[in-house]
Amino acid sequence: MTAPHSPTSFGHRHLLGIEGLAAGEITALLDLSESYVEHNRRRDKKGQVLRGRTLINVFFESSTRTRTSFELAGKRLGADVINISPEVSAVKKGETLLDTAMTLNAMHPDVLVVRHPDSGAVHLLAQKVTCAVINGGDGKHEHPTQALLDALTIRRRLGRLEGLMVAICGDILHSRVARSNIHLLNIMGARVRVVAPPTLLACDIERMGVEVFHDMRAGLQGCDIVMMLRLQTERMQGSFVPSIREYFHFFGLDHDKLASAKPHALIMHPGPMNRGVEIDSLVADDIFRSLIHEQVEMGVAVRMACLDLLTRDLTGNEPSEAV
Ligand code: CP
Repeated sequence: MTAPHSPTSFGHRHLLGIEGLAAGEITALLDLSESYVEHNRRRDKKGQVLRGRTLINVFFESSTRTRTSFELAGKRLGADVINISPEVSAVKKGETLLDTAMTLNAMHPDVLVVRHPDSGAVHLLAQKVTCAVINGGDGKHEHPTQALLDALTIRRRLGRLEGLMVAICGDILHSRVARSNIHLLNIMGARVRVVAPPTLLACDIERMGVEVFHDMRAGLQGCDIVMMLRLQTERMQGSFVPSIREYFHFFGLDHDKLASAKPHALIMHPGPMNRGVEIDSLVADDIFRSLIHEQVEMGVAVRMACLDLLTRDLTGNEPSEAV
């Protein structure tokens, strides 16, 4: 198999967030991901880059896309991959996050991918282990690989990120996806709008470098990309919207509201979707406008690139000779 596009080096031991990354580092990750998109479309997907290495997925919150794609990414690169769920681990017996991390670290994994409901938990864990740590989503804080896969999806469709107008709509307040995307899009020179009712926005959100709208049609005006987010009820205490029916009426994306965006504006959603709440099925399934399945495909490629780059930096390996 041919060598992947050779990236510049990624000068970080862990991938804990997008905040603080340089545009060149993001571009290097996206460039390497491109080669893995091609790799994943081949009949033979088995690679060697992570042969002999061990990846452990530790997910303290539910996941379909992130966990499965990290598992696929590790296996397609030749790593041994283990998945740990709190329901069937010693966490059930009262073991703390840090003791769990130190226990896993003693088994010499090369990479831990961690999802946790508390913001900052993954950073704390990363300080205690000797392997690379990738944040698979921590509370309301960051979900860096989601923002990278979203960026790859946009870049492949529109050829660039710089200068695009992107509207992120829905439950911004509880969304790590929104935060990581806002950081990434700002770093890469896109313009970002957030569109939500005031109850679903932090009062100082403008400080992240976004324009704020409380009306979908106004917020979508002139946008190239419309990114929808679900109501993250698992992080809510009490009700943040009067009713689902009213929320969909004012903030659910349908073709009528989408008509305010640019004529060929594209629709994104990180998943899982709640049809009829934040998005209408006719929009979600619009094969000309919706990038939702493409986002899932890009997720595997981006996670392969992250695993590849982080293990190279740890071991001092030269760029891969074969995939
Ligand atoms: N987008 C995302 O993180 O999906 P999962 O919760 O299924 O991993």
